[in-house]
Amino acid sequence: MAERNPYFRGIISRSSLFFLFVIVSFLFIFTWFSVLRSASQPHIIGPSTLPNSKLSAVIDNGNSHPRNQDDMQPSGIAISVNYGEEAPQHQELIKCNPNKVVKVFMYDLPPEFHFGLLEWKPVGDIVWPDLKTKIPDYPGGLNLQHSIEYWLTLDLLSSTFPDSTGARSAVRVHNSSEADVIFVPFFSSLSYNRYSRLQPHEKKNRNVLLQEKLVKFLTAQEEWKRSGGRDHIIMAHHPNSLLDARVKLWPAMFVLSDFGRYPPTVAYLEKDVIAPYKHIIKTFVNDSSGFDGRPTLLYFQGAIYRKDGGYIRQELFYLLKDEKDVHFSFGSVSRDGINNASQGMHSSKFCLNVAGDTPSSNRLFDAIASHCVPVIISDEIELPYEDVLDYSQFCIFVRTSDSVKKNFLIKLIRGIKKEEWTQMWKRLKEIEKFFEFQYPSQEDDAVQMIWQAVARKVPSVRLKLHKSKRLSRHIGKSKRDPITVPKNFW
Ligand SMILES: *[C@@H]1O[C@H](CO)[C@@H](O)[C@H](O)[C@H]1NC(C)=O
Ligand SMILES: *[C@@H]1O[C@H](CO)[C@@H](O)[C@H](O)[C@H]1NC(C)=O
Ligand SMILES: *[C@@H]1O[C@H](CO)[C@@H](O)[C@H](O)[C@H]1NC(C)=O
Repeated sequence: MAERNPYFRGIISRSSLFFLFVIVSFLFIFTWFSVLRSASQPHIIGPSTLPNSKLSAVIDNGNSHPRNQDDMQPSGIAISVNYGEEAPQHQELIKCNPNKVVKVFMYDLPPEFHFGLLEWKPVGDIVWPDLKTKIPDYPGGLNLQHSIEYWLTLDLLSSTFPDSTGARSAVRVHNSSEADVIFVPFFSSLSYNRYSRLQPHEKKNRNVLLQEKLVKFLTAQEEWKRSGGRDHIIMAHHPNSLLDARVKLWPAMFVLSDFGRYPPTVAYLEKDVIAPYKHIIKTFVNDSSGFDGRPTLLYFQGAIYRKDGGYIRQELFYLLKDEKDVHFSFGSVSRDGINNASQGMHSSKFCLNVAGDTPSSNRLFDAIASHCVPVIISDEIELPYEDVLDYSQFCIFVRTSDSVKKNFLIKLIRGIKKEEWTQMWKRLKEIEKFFEFQYPSQEDDAVQMIWQAVARKVPSVRLKLHKSKRLSRHIGKSKRDPITVPKNFW
């Protein structure tokens, strides 16, 4: 027995080891499959199993309204609902988070950056005009095309009025830590339009000086240092505005008309917001014209530029000049010409938008206000709120290379019959409000649509901000100079 015992013990321990091995292997395989399953079904281990209080602290870092992906989902899908006659869904065209109001902190920049450019004279050291007594006027004429800076600023200033209308997309907050974004109220387009010519006694024009001052001001602010500028909104709607400062302020979110004159490292669709021009042509109120009430088939009015756009325009002119129902005239819309052009666009079925020296122009927005179906020939154009708005439902797009083929354009346009045209015309009447700048702003007008576009960028700004903080514990703030953020950061 004394000999057997170790023998038996050996057998027992060997078989129990084997048994243990089988069990462990089984457990291992089982666990492995569970992990695989839950990885492919994230909701099993998803946030819903975390206590809510903890979650919102993680997600939102103290800010009061966590935005999740679903909330930010552009509900613009509704725009592709069928537009059959008098479909009741029309009221629901776009509902971009009606309850999500973006919180905006606005710098109290000295008046010389904003209303001072409108010749508003502050009394004492107040910074902002009292909108309840008098609203300073923005200069008229072609200046108005880029007046978005004025409308957004007015909207913020009035956002906390007790009697402000219910529908708001942005509200001003005075504590920047509570803000989603930081707004820079520099009227850069007006600054360019009015002050970019050198005066006899000046070394630098005022437009350049203001930009230098702005860069100095911004980069010294706590808010800018905190984010490297990533959560700042800077308006530069005129293609020549902010020409000097933009290369220094590029981490910010720009509000632009297009990217035509921007290097792709300074501005791009993912980061920036495209805003409409303010139309110059009069809105066609109570438009009951219809297909047969618009005698001109195709309307074009524009300048010939020496650059690329001019060549296309001349080609198109030669292709179309013999068509009797096509109106083609050169020359920009002067102030006196606005009435004439309004009548022309209001009595045309299609309005041509050809890229000029920049991909965008206010002609598109003139066409929309005229309910004249836009025919867009501009390969590089970017369109406002295109993430929630399907322009193909009320615009015709033609590639530049196709447009100059013999008979291509005229055949395409003549091929669009009354029924199809009428659908597009009706849609134009539904969406025109998205392009209307006004004070006070109203639900889903241009001002609010721009704020909503900003709101849709907030999650990606947060993501970048949070990522940028990963190493902040041991790489000091001073090493993270906002202006020298690594180029590959974005
Ligand atoms: C600003 O908000 C932050 C975060 O909510 C808070 O900690 C801070 O005290 C506030 N500052 C002021 C001046 O109210
Ligand atoms: C448009 O129609 C409405 C209602 O019929 C009318 O009150 C308004 O005066 C009209 N406006 C214009 C500019 O014709
Ligand atoms: C606009 O002006 C052009 C030439 O200046 C003229 O031929 C045309 O009839 C005018 N159109 C309208 C609608 O007044």
